[in-house]
Amino acid sequence: MLTALHHNNDSVFRLSLFQEFPTLMHYQSFGGYEALKQALTGNPVNIIETLAAAGLRGRGGAAFPTGLKMQMVRNNAEPVRYVICNADEGEPGTFKDRFIMSHIPFQLLEGMTLAAYAVGARKGYIYIRHEYPEVQDTMRRSIAAASAAGLLGKNILGQEFSFEVEIFSGAGSYLCGEETALLSSMEGKKGRPRLKPPYPTQYGLWGKPTLINNVETLANISMIISRGASWYRSLGTSDSPGTKLISLSGDVARRGLYEVPFGTTFREMIEEYGGGMKEGGSIKAVNIGGASGVVVPPWELDCTLEYQSCQERGITIGSGAVFVMNESRSILANVHNRVEFFLHESCGKCTPCREGLRQAGRIIHRLIAGEAELSEVDNLERYTRAMQNAAFCGLGQAAGNSLISSLRYFRQEYEEACLDSTQRFERREVTA
Ligand SMILES: Cc1cc2nc3c(=O)[nH]c(=O)nc-3n(C[C@H](O)[C@H](O)[C@H](O)COP(=O)(O)O)c2cc1C
Ligand code: SF4
Repeated sequence: MLTALHHNNDSVFRLSLFQEFPTLMHYQSFGGYEALKQALTGNPVNIIETLAAAGLRGRGGAAFPTGLKMQMVRNNAEPVRYVICNADEGEPGTFKDRFIMSHIPFQLLEGMTLAAYAVGARKGYIYIRHEYPEVQDTMRRSIAAASAAGLLGKNILGQEFSFEVEIFSGAGSYLCGEETALLSSMEGKKGRPRLKPPYPTQYGLWGKPTLINNVETLANISMIISRGASWYRSLGTSDSPGTKLISLSGDVARRGLYEVPFGTTFREMIEEYGGGMKEGGSIKAVNIGGASGVVVPPWELDCTLEYQSCQERGITIGSGAVFVMNESRSILANVHNRVEFFLHESCGKCTPCREGLRQAGRIIHRLIAGEAELSEVDNLERYTRAMQNAAFCGLGQAAGNSLISSLRYFRQEYEEACLDSTQRFERREVTA
């Protein structure tokens, strides 16, 4: 396992296999860097094959197969290649990458070094959001310690392979977590997304083939290389092997960060890991996947955390944020908050996202103020679907997920907001 952890109210408790490795010595005393030692004497392709056999998929949101992505960079004829760790962690309600970098920084560095050896890169960057200054300090100190110990820099562990890592401070924008916007911001341009293809594996940083992976993805690599693909496949399910870090927040008794095996149901996450609802409340809705994720009612919570089953039910795992709402929460207020967030973060480059969010924001505002008419709910749905279908990048394509899913399950709340107080009273009488 990556870590089996429970992070609650700023204190960290150990569960089963959980270990923290704040210093290099500590990390090495638990087998840290054994995977790198073992890998550097072998063929780099072995790393790619092992990750592909393990079924590791990206944890940044898109769940792209990691081995395949590495293979694409490795196959490129251009000899200068880069590895970038995406540590922008901008998805609201997500705090897993911060935890990894603060508590197991060497596991991330070892994973990056293994990835660099696999794809033939000599230079790597960790793009850390600028709101994480302490994390940037921890990573800088960890890079210095690993370099002093011959685990980064020239001729790592006395072998021919050399690899350097540098920290790049993010630009304070959610959109810069999108891989091509991230590249633009690193190149000193406006942090706006580029057209894909070409993908970063073909044309990445300064036009060179680049492997971009999330922090959690890279932190999984050393354990898979040292213990093997079948060990990894013994965790989770055949569709989704391994574990996933879940940032659990909202009205649960024990909010925190949990590592759960794939195959766990969302209900188990809330009941067993999160200790159920705070103060005996009941679940009204759960937002899965962060601001760009979906809002589902309690009866969807028996869905298992697996790529296939979630996709079939329209649930986006995304970065693994799970926000639980009790009966006192307003769906409209929650969705309004998300739309405002995306309005603020949209770069304005394409009309469906820029105007779609503006119109959605206006209608939700009218609904909350009790000024909207019933037909506006249909308009809201139409504008949002148009934005999902026509937006240029992943921000606009996902910005309407919470809106559309909440309209599917909680349409009554939208429609009731359109009725005047007499109509609401009459409706209650009829339903009673
Ligand atoms: C608007 C937007 C924001 C994103 N933010 C992040 C982020 O903060 N961290 C991240 O790892 N991936 C983020 N992604 C996904 C990246 O574009 C990319 O898919 C990911 O870094 C690839 O790594 P993986 O294969 O390990 O998942 C974002 C995507 C979009 C569309
Ligand atoms: S979808 Fe939104 S964030 Fe993405 S390019 Fe268009 S305006 Fe910019």
